[in-house]
Amino acid sequence: MTRSAFMTPSAPNRVWDVERIRKDFPALHQQVHGKPLVYLDNAATSQKPQAVIDALVAYYTFDNSNVHRGVHLLSERATEAYEGARARIQRHLNAASPREIVFIRQATEGINLVMASYGRRFVGAGDEIVISAIEHHANIVPWQMLCEEKGARLRVVPIDDRGDLLMEEYARLLGPRTKLVAITQVSNALGTVTPIKDIIGLAHQQDIPVLIDGAQAVPHQPVDVRDLDCDFYVFSGHKAYGPTGIGVLYGKEQWLERMPPFQGGGDMIKSVTFEKTIYNELPYKFEAGTPHIAGAIGLAAGLEYIAGLGLEQIRDYEHELLAYGTELLSAISRVRLIGTARHKGAVLSFVLDGVHAHDLGTILDQQGVAVRAGHHCAMPVMQRFGVPATARASMAFYNTRGEVETLAAAIERAREIFS
Ligand code: ALA
Repeated sequence: MTRSAFMTPSAPNRVWDVERIRKDFPALHQQVHGKPLVYLDNAATSQKPQAVIDALVAYYTFDNSNVHRGVHLLSERATEAYEGARARIQRHLNAASPREIVFIRQATEGINLVMASYGRRFVGAGDEIVISAIEHHANIVPWQMLCEEKGARLRVVPIDDRGDLLMEEYARLLGPRTKLVAITQVSNALGTVTPIKDIIGLAHQQDIPVLIDGAQAVPHQPVDVRDLDCDFYVFSGHKAYGPTGIGVLYGKEQWLERMPPFQGGGDMIKSVTFEKTIYNELPYKFEAGTPHIAGAIGLAAGLEYIAGLGLEQIRDYEHELLAYGTELLSAISRVRLIGTARHKGAVLSFVLDGVHAHDLGTILDQQGVAVRAGHHCAMPVMQRFGVPATARASMAFYNTRGEVETLAAAIERAREIFS
């Protein structure tokens, strides 16, 4: 096997040829329970294109070595590939500098980093952190931990019955005590797309920094952190067609410079004596220990792949799938869609009257349809809508209208079973 055999990702053409695109995803072409797999659990994790699998195999086959340390050729190659991945991600997000791109394990760790580093330095007793009612637990629990530690207060922007944020309430919550706004760009449980430019603009009028949880946005649309003007932005690699265990924290340099390290160890230092340690420059100050080198390379390959397809085209295609799915599911009696925001990502959360979401998920699975069932790590959202759980079909650009029809037929079947 040669290196070039790994490094030739197919070049998808610009016309949305979903059947062609599906060929790039080996995992999609299998049967489960004797039925063709219909993978609609993309908000939990996406499938991986061959280009990502190849990048991982090529790294481990030819370049595997530690970064920033060795003087030998393999270490140089690994370092070049790792830093090349950082530069690729910087371009993808339109960040001003690679110094603003910190590799982390996933969005959850990015939020915990900001909590531990920014929060411990800049938040005190009586201060407030503003989040919203549609946050994932990853964007709730770290702030609760910080509030408990500091005697600070968590304020929550409420939502309406569709799942849209009440922006007047948001504006009212901001004040001199607010030390951070931390809000999702797209809700994992409902699909709500939040008006983040307005959210950021209102906070900045009062010099309040804003963290955006972009875990459900980066895989589905263009993201430009300079246009958004957010202070922090986090996302996970595995939802964005990359590997698990890798994610990105973007932070404005002026914030990251003022923040203390998150973890101590190798690579995050310039010099160490028992009397004093001098920390490394950005972004290494926040990357203690050997990083997930292959993960970073694989994530860059994933972002390269979706950029090649066209992020606007992905967004538009998925929007069509969402509209079609909404139409089909709305027509099924006893089905109630949970989350009907004005702007939505391709997420269909629903309940079937009289059937627990887990039973529904199992019946769908028997028909080859993979969805998530449960509270989706967003228990307050379930409480707000008065349901213990939902079934959630979350779509990606490789899903087809035919698969959406299969989903609807599988729900019909479940309805008959539980009639
Ligand atoms: N946060 C992921 C989801 O929504 C795991 O399923």
